[in-house]
Amino acid sequence: MSVFSRKKYSSYEDISVQNKKIPFAVVESYKAVRANLSFLLSSAKRNTVVVTSPNSGEGKSTTAVNMAIAFSQLGERVLLIDADMRKATIHKKLKTENGDGVSNILAGMAEVGDCIKKINENLFFLPAGRIPPNPSELLGSPEFEKLLSKVSPAYSCVIIDTPPINVVSDTLVAAPLTAGVVMVVRDGVTQHDDIKHAISSAEFAGIKILGAVINGIKNSSARGYRYNYYSKYYKAH
Ligand SMILES: Nc1ncnc2c1ncn2[C@@H]1O[C@H](COP(=O)(O)OP(=O)(O)OP(=O)(O)O)[C@@H](O)[C@H]1O
Ligand SMILES: [Mg+2]
Repeated sequence: MSVFSRKKYSSYEDISVQNKKIPFAVVESYKAVRANLSFLLSSAKRNTVVVTSPNSGEGKSTTAVNMAIAFSQLGERVLLIDADMRKATIHKKLKTENGDGVSNILAGMAEVGDCIKKINENLFFLPAGRIPPNPSELLGSPEFEKLLSKVSPAYSCVIIDTPPINVVSDTLVAAPLTAGVVMVVRDGVTQHDDIKHAISSAEFAGIKILGAVINGIKNSSARGYRYNYYSKYYKAH
């Protein structure tokens, strides 16, 4: 799976795969991610997917938003959860408020039904909520499991944005409760050792790696590299 680079992403309108101004290659790359993921989820026991990356700024939140939009365009009900309580950005990309969300629910201070926002007919969003002092403990608590089992039957697919897996433990505690992770790596930025470290941490925590998204590929001349890279990575798991 791979995603081409755009000059500048700044908002939902900019990054939406529905936006006619978005280059064809970018829209198609998100559709390809959607197709791969649909296939992987069709044989999985759970419909929840975590999006992460080795380090910060590699495109996790952008990928999570666009994956969710791409799924919702198929007419499927999709819930996008911002579980990056340390650095919530999804609400900005969707041009909505943060408000009560994951941290409030996990702390027993809010009800999930009151926090979910409807973005369009098929796309729903659960914000991160206020920054808590203990995000990884909250995600590792039985409350997070309860939250997922409450929401997942109501949606075809639940996409969860998380912090970088090599930096904090949030993803490692949350992802074992899901079908697995989509690992975002950024072309020309993410180092080989970072990817190896991320994969071994995930494996050690018993997390399934569903696939990788190579984000920000500069141009179509990278095609050969991209496919070689993906198939190598995929076979290894
Ligand atoms: N394919 C791309 N082409 C151009 N810009 C991109 C691309 N993907 C992401 N960006 C930009 O890179 C920056 C980081 O992206 P994003 O917020 O999605 O990363 P992240 O991994 O979620 O970061 P963090 O670890 O801080 O949560 C943002 O300004 C985003 O608009
Ligand atoms: Mg992010």
